[in-house]
Amino acid sequence: MPRVTKTAPMIFLIGFSGSGKSTIGPKLAKRLRLDFFDTDQLIEKRCKKSIPRIFDEDGEKFFRQLESEVIESLSRKRKAAVVALGGGAFQSRNNRAVVADIGVSIYLSCSVRELYRRLSHATDRPLITGRGRAAKIKLLLNTRTANYRKADLSCSTSERSVAESVTRIIKLLKGFNASS
Ligand code: S3P
Repeated sequence: MPRVTKTAPMIFLIGFSGSGKSTIGPKLAKRLRLDFFDTDQLIEKRCKKSIPRIFDEDGEKFFRQLESEVIESLSRKRKAAVVALGGGAFQSRNNRAVVADIGVSIYLSCSVRELYRRLSHATDRPLITGRGRAAKIKLLLNTRTANYRKADLSCSTSERSVAESVTRIIKLLKGFNASS
């Protein structure tokens, strides 16, 4: 490890908000001695404003453009790294193609019940804040799951601690290396 992919060992964590991408990502990167990037953080740094403010002032369409640009610029690095993608990033066919070209994708799956528990007080996710949060999570997750399942690998985080998820992902990556 880490010889993870065809051209560069880039490991993309995908999945719904609250599935653990931003908490598991840095720990996984540390274990693999790789850099860690979070596309939401890169977008906030670039715009010098928070994600909710970007959604509010510039709209979701603008955010999605930035998200794709950030993914493409990471892909041009062609350097080993763990990357946490925002929960909506894998819905774009173009983003999925970029990810497939330069790395391996891992879907961090999580039950609706657990997502709701983890996100019940979050105020920084514009698509799932406010009234009817549980219904919004369920609906969005339902519409997105088919694309999440297009990831190369998947790991359920519902009943795993962060450390257990990291260990499971490393095992899955070893298997992926062996078979590719
Ligand atoms: C989004 C998820 C967020 C962030 C933005 C949009 C989504 O990232 O990119 O609020 O569409 O699900 P996290 O998955 O890190 O919460």
